[in-house]
Amino acid sequence: MAMTLEQFLRHATHQLAASSPSPRLDAEVLFMHVTGLSRTALITRALEPVSAEIEKRLQELLVRRVRGEPVAYLTGRREFWSMELRVTPDVLIPRPETELLVEQALALIPEDSDWTIADLGTGTGAIALAIAKERPRCHVIATDASETALSVARGNAQHLNIENIEFRHGVWLTPLAGSESDMIVSNPPYVRVGDPHLEQGDVRFEPQTALVAGADGLDAIRCIATDAASHLRPGGWLLFEHGYDQAQAVRTLLETHGFDRVVSFRDAAGHERVTAGCSYD
Ligand SMILES: C[S@@+](CC[C@H](N)C(=O)[O-])C[C@H]1O[C@@H](n2cnc3c(N)ncnc32)[C@H](O)[C@@H]1O
Repeated sequence: MAMTLEQFLRHATHQLAASSPSPRLDAEVLFMHVTGLSRTALITRALEPVSAEIEKRLQELLVRRVRGEPVAYLTGRREFWSMELRVTPDVLIPRPETELLVEQALALIPEDSDWTIADLGTGTGAIALAIAKERPRCHVIATDASETALSVARGNAQHLNIENIEFRHGVWLTPLAGSESDMIVSNPPYVRVGDPHLEQGDVRFEPQTALVAGADGLDAIRCIATDAASHLRPGGWLLFEHGYDQAQAVRTLLETHGFDRVVSFRDAAGHERVTAGCSYD
């Protein structure tokens, strides 16, 4: 006899319990992905039977999830800043904590300004698209060294109908040659080589080039910080997301390379995760 929707969700939750930190949520997200049902429908239709076809498709996804594949790669989607972004294994899955970088950037960009803002290492385009959406008069330049990441980001811009954004390929500041920005933001790779977290959870399936940045995790931030001031107008802003224990090192890098008013911002857990500096006037 076919399982009801609720019975299937319980069965799936049990199957995921050992491999996922959020087994019930994962089961629900995968169920909604395969069936197209809303969260409300999961409750109102809890006693309806699950067809053999749906059960088979879900079972295939559950097996992959048990092996550790991130839910976002299984569904091909992840929400960021209330936008649904397409996600593939070529890009880092946008993290909720990166919204802190967006919030602090927006706090510095006047509402009606027509600034040029660069997002270096854009991945899915998460940060660039959020800023472009919130500041429609600004021009956002989203860059990445990965062509495949840029095509994912371009697709997201089209899907979201966000037009005040341009995509450029190249390493860190190179794609900005010849242009002067009012702000540069980046969530670059900042994990140390050999960090044990790289062997755990979702990050095992994400591109290493999006995560790892040298022995101290600061190679990318150092590279960007060293040259950023020459790509900013005087008084322009540079903002980084970084690791919870890297704020002091990032502040020192900014102060050494032409920035003042250097300040770090804490996330909801109290960790300094974003640092900003203003290029000398
Ligand atoms: C931590 S991910 C951030 C992705 C996205 N901005 C986000 O916050 O979800 C870092 C991104 O930097 C890109 N990247 C790595 N090395 C780079 C380089 N040398 N130049 C430009 N981009 C690079 C990666 O391809 C990846 O998309």
